[in-house]
Amino acid sequence: MKNEEVKKVTILWGITGSLGSINITDYMSYVMSNLDCQIMTIMTDASRNFISPYSVGLKTKNPVFSDMFSQEGNIRIPHVDLTGLADVFIVAPASANSLAKAVSGIGDDLLSTSFIAYEKPIIFVPNMNEKMRRNRIVQSNIDKLRSFGNIIVEANSEETGTGNGTKKNGSMPEPEKILSAIRNNINLSRFGSP
Ligand SMILES: Cc1cc2nc3c(=O)[nH]c(=O)nc-3n(C[C@H](O)[C@H](O)[C@H](O)COP(=O)(O)O)c2cc1C
Repeated sequence: MKNEEVKKVTILWGITGSLGSINITDYMSYVMSNLDCQIMTIMTDASRNFISPYSVGLKTKNPVFSDMFSQEGNIRIPHVDLTGLADVFIVAPASANSLAKAVSGIGDDLLSTSFIAYEKPIIFVPNMNEKMRRNRIVQSNIDKLRSFGNIIVEANSEETGTGNGTKKNGSMPEPEKILSAIRNNINLSRFGSP
């Protein structure tokens, strides 16, 4: 592919009802300033309690989708059209609930239906307090998602700065780690070699 034909990367970004969603536009800004990309966003209903679709739309300069049955511009069937546009699909932060839906194939909202419609690996950034993260069902769901070929990105204790091997509640990984996962998972067939 010639250089001039190379198009912007389209990132489909799912936001769920985890505490980490409060600051998620900082992560989006970081990715946008370090990668030639556009971000299309799907927000769950629960996530709208933590951050407004308006502020996400302002930051990404793109419409934000939540309703499975909405029609906007060329997006007529959102779960099909948005996943069809995506060169990479990331869910950050990913709630325990949405992880469970992804494992089970439940599609009862736009984000979870998009999990089913997307044919490539999805990057999940689990985000919950340590009690929830230690729950065996949550652990098993994360392990299963990984075994299905998806990518799990988590904060380690060094990144969270506790210095004692534990994580702060609801820690998110550093933005660099998320950017690197995105870079590594761009659909290279459309772009050629990086
Ligand atoms: C104040 C508050 C904080 C929450 N934080 C988290 C969280 O960090 N991680 C998580 O998995 N769930 C968290 N929850 C629960 C989710 O919001 C809830 O399970 C919701 O149904 C998730 O829906 P979604 O996956 O469709 O976004 C929180 C709930 C409340 C009220």
